[in-house]
Amino acid sequence: YHVDWDLSAAEKDGHDWFMRKEIFEQPRAVADSLLGRRGTDGLLQLDEMRLSDQDLRDVDKIIIIAAGTSFYAGMVAKYAIEHWCRIPVEVELASEFRYRDPILTSDTLVVAISQSGETADTLQAIRHAREQRSKVLSICNTNGSTIPRESDGVIYTHAGPEIGVASTKGFLTQLVACYLLALYLAQVKGTRYGDEISQVMDQLDQMPDHIQTVLDKAEQVYGLARDHVGSRSVLFLGRHAGYPVALEGALKLKEIAYLHAEGFAAGELKHGPIALVEEGLPILCVVPPRGRDQLHDKMISGIQEVRARGARTLCLAEEGDTTIVPYADVLITLPQVPVLLQPLVAVVPLQLFACELATQLGHDVDQPRNLAKSVTVE
Ligand code: G6P
Repeated sequence: YHVDWDLSAAEKDGHDWFMRKEIFEQPRAVADSLLGRRGTDGLLQLDEMRLSDQDLRDVDKIIIIAAGTSFYAGMVAKYAIEHWCRIPVEVELASEFRYRDPILTSDTLVVAISQSGETADTLQAIRHAREQRSKVLSICNTNGSTIPRESDGVIYTHAGPEIGVASTKGFLTQLVACYLLALYLAQVKGTRYGDEISQVMDQLDQMPDHIQTVLDKAEQVYGLARDHVGSRSVLFLGRHAGYPVALEGALKLKEIAYLHAEGFAAGELKHGPIALVEEGLPILCVVPPRGRDQLHDKMISGIQEVRARGARTLCLAEEGDTTIVPYADVLITLPQVPVLLQPLVAVVPLQLFACELATQLGHDVDQPRNLAKSVTVE
């Protein structure tokens, strides 16, 4: 009698890769990051913040610094903070920040986003910022790591340990922390009414279920990935909060499938990328939700243009969006959520796509060549 006990499969919850396990953990990870953020008075509270409300009210500029996937979370944060709080936000790669003599004052809030809390470029950047007397808040997944220890305050993301080198649940929970920070600043600065803030919090509370709805479509995405095993290049298009999602989708493919992949802002198509389009080129398009602005329609016309030139359009669009149907070679539907929160659902199929494509190509998804989970050298 023999029990086939595979320790490593058990650690991975029966999945083949930690990355896949971590993708499927995202509903729980996002729920955990949201846990306990609302006080009995209904107000948002950030326990480990360690920055006083007065410090935050004085903030007149925010600079977000990060690397890799965390940088894309920072791009989404810029959209959210500027919209809800009306504070100007810059997002900068940690490796560039220190070397260009950035303008930092005691009223500048530097937000460092790092899953590991150990990325050397990000650490050096916050040291530089503190030397200039700026306050530093970190968004981090690793308790007690160096970056939060050297910050004035921290928002922990509570995703649980992330083993896969390519970040997944780390990214989604960073997004949650960024939304919480933006809403907290809006609350402290009074730029949004309390009921508006709790309405967004209610929408955030629904996100774990929405993410699960997307994960339930994994088979459709895996099929799509298998159809693209022979592709030499994949482009990604997005607009607004969907633009960083496009960049992150492309990064995932580079990291684990070693495939040439580029993300573009859809509005930039005619300034270069459209010249790349040839017959059969796969383009993943993140379609914004239908809204009062022209964002959605502009995206549709961009998709029409690339399709007319022979691209194969693989579209992610919200449930019920019929306008996209004639222009989508493949359509993956997303739950209906506000545009600022859409990255939380839109990035999930892109993670699944990269994971499956890399698996089909026979790569070690958890240990991609030449990459490290945390880059502790500059
Ligand atoms: C490495 C990892 C990426 C991560 C980046 C930033 O490149 O492979 O997944 O996004 O570092 O890491 P951090 O820990 O600072 O978020």
